[in-house]
Amino acid sequence: MSLVAYVNNRFLPLESATVHIEDRGFQFADGVYEVVACIGGCFLDLDLHLDRLQRSCSAIGIALPCSGDKLEALIRETWKRNPYTDAMVYIQITRGAAPRSHLPSESMHPTLIITSRELPKPGDEKLTQGASGITLRDFRWKRCDIKSIALLASVMGKQEAHRQDADEAFWLDEDDHVLEGCSTNIFAVIDGTLVTHPLDHQVLGGITRRMLIRIARDAGIEVAERPWKLAEATLSECMLTSTTNAVLPVCHMDGSPVASGAPGPVATQLRTLMLQAMDELRQS
Ligand SMILES: Cc1ncc(COP(=O)(O)O)c(C=O)c1O
Repeated sequence: MSLVAYVNNRFLPLESATVHIEDRGFQFADGVYEVVACIGGCFLDLDLHLDRLQRSCSAIGIALPCSGDKLEALIRETWKRNPYTDAMVYIQITRGAAPRSHLPSESMHPTLIITSRELPKPGDEKLTQGASGITLRDFRWKRCDIKSIALLASVMGKQEAHRQDADEAFWLDEDDHVLEGCSTNIFAVIDGTLVTHPLDHQVLGGITRRMLIRIARDAGIEVAERPWKLAEATLSECMLTSTTNAVLPVCHMDGSPVASGAPGPVATQLRTLMLQAMDELRQS
């Protein structure tokens, strides 16, 4: 079965789905996006993803190209027309196509693209040995709270992580606080508390981050949203979160083990609880 993409009012075979060369997404990275996971036909936290998309659009002054209900219907339809039961659905919105000029005209019609691909699952090795990371000084822009399609810094970070045989690059601020990964949020267990950087312009408000915080609190684990460093003496675990990974222990950083170098009890417990919560969602 060939793949189908939704592009500006039409469902097309992926090979022939194109946008205009003067689309501002291509010319200026002038757009935003979302990724939502669908497991067995159930979209996880679709309402939260649509809210974030709406916030990203209004932050850069693009009106959603259709109503929220229509967008939701298009997302479901795109998923249906593709062969993956467990899928990651990408929604990309740009300001639209127009002769190249930094200043956009007011009358532009946004471009809307939706695709559905197989949801990648972390392999057994990642689950038993944990993921590995490197750290890089943050050289991204100062509005990381917007889910922008301008991902060049993340591409460079991932390339560097790959070069060093690691899975993810994590950004550090000027004082060595750990912010987030190229496409993930990151948590540490410090003195028994689950700690993650607070939401501000330096991190994306991950939907999985929010879910992990809720699940941890429900399980009686204390959570603190505060700046933190890898060098903190009582740090015993690290874990990353994202739509495509759920929660995954990070056991090596910059070539050295994080604490014992093996998935810790808190990450293991939280992964089990998160997968259970996802299962319940799927059955509801
Ligand atoms: C920079 C960044 N941080 C965090 C995340 C995780 O967000 P979510 O849990 O909503 O997938 C992503 C996901 O793409 C991301 O790009």
